[in-house]
Amino acid sequence: MIMITKLLIDRRRAKKARNERVVAPIDNIEAVPSLTVLPLVDFFSESMEAKTEPGVSYLVKAGDFSVLLDVGYNMKCEHPSPLISNMNLFGVNINDIDALFISHHHLDHLGGAGEQRKHTFSLSHGPVDFPPIPVYSPLPLKPSSHNFNPESEIRASLGPVKLAKGVYGTGSIPRALYIMGYTEEQALAVNVAGKGIVLIIGCGHQTVQRVIERAKKLFNLPVYGVIGGLHFPVHGGRIMLGPINLQAVVGTDRMPWNYINEKDVRDAIQAISNADVKFVSLSAHDSSDWAIDQFRKAFGSAYKDLLVGNPLEI
Ligand SMILES: [Fe+2]
Repeated sequence: MIMITKLLIDRRRAKKARNERVVAPIDNIEAVPSLTVLPLVDFFSESMEAKTEPGVSYLVKAGDFSVLLDVGYNMKCEHPSPLISNMNLFGVNINDIDALFISHHHLDHLGGAGEQRKHTFSLSHGPVDFPPIPVYSPLPLKPSSHNFNPESEIRASLGPVKLAKGVYGTGSIPRALYIMGYTEEQALAVNVAGKGIVLIIGCGHQTVQRVIERAKKLFNLPVYGVIGGLHFPVHGGRIMLGPINLQAVVGTDRMPWNYINEKDVRDAIQAISNADVKFVSLSAHDSSDWAIDQFRKAFGSAYKDLLVGNPLEI
């Protein structure tokens, strides 16, 4: 009962914030010549040596600018973490990363449950030479005890931000979630020359419909790609508590008995189709095999599997 009352309060708060948060179109939008998204942490990989888990970390190379979106889950509190192991495996040098972009403050994106509780982020459960790069986050983040460089500047903002030429944060869109509570989430948006805006999304708690709507308001350009997590654990989830599909219950602002379902997946596919998106890749960290299959069927050759170690090239 307490959780349901809290959900109703959070829902009202999120709706009010969404209505009040007005964003202005961005002027002089620049573009990058190419974009590559290399999944470093996610649920599936073709590589036998890669570590996989229900978390997210993607290396986004937009022209000559590299930004790391989220830092994985590190479920087993390992050092080196799946993120650091996979960076080593796929030849990613941490010093080549220009910025870190945190989509939202959930455990599978900040590097662990402890990090979520403390509002910190961690790349591994041991020392890592984190370079002095800016960290973009929708909300303030505190330094991690493990691997934070004190010279790194944490740039917390709910509004849209420019990271580099052609690379933007969409600004945060809040949503109430059962048990997880009021959640602020932002996505990356990259303008690829001759193509349009590619959205790279952490968990999609905002709903993909709202992220696309936000992108249209900000850029007034075609949305060319949607890559990342959209949270569709329908007919199966990646985090099970016995028979309970935890992701299906906690990932929505509806009542706990009205969890994420087939209609939500169909509605998202419809919204992406309506926007005439040409490149779609759905993260398996918070979506089921069933949901991935629906996307594959709906988008045909425009759909690409999202696999750790396999770069998505645009
Ligand atoms: Fe997630």
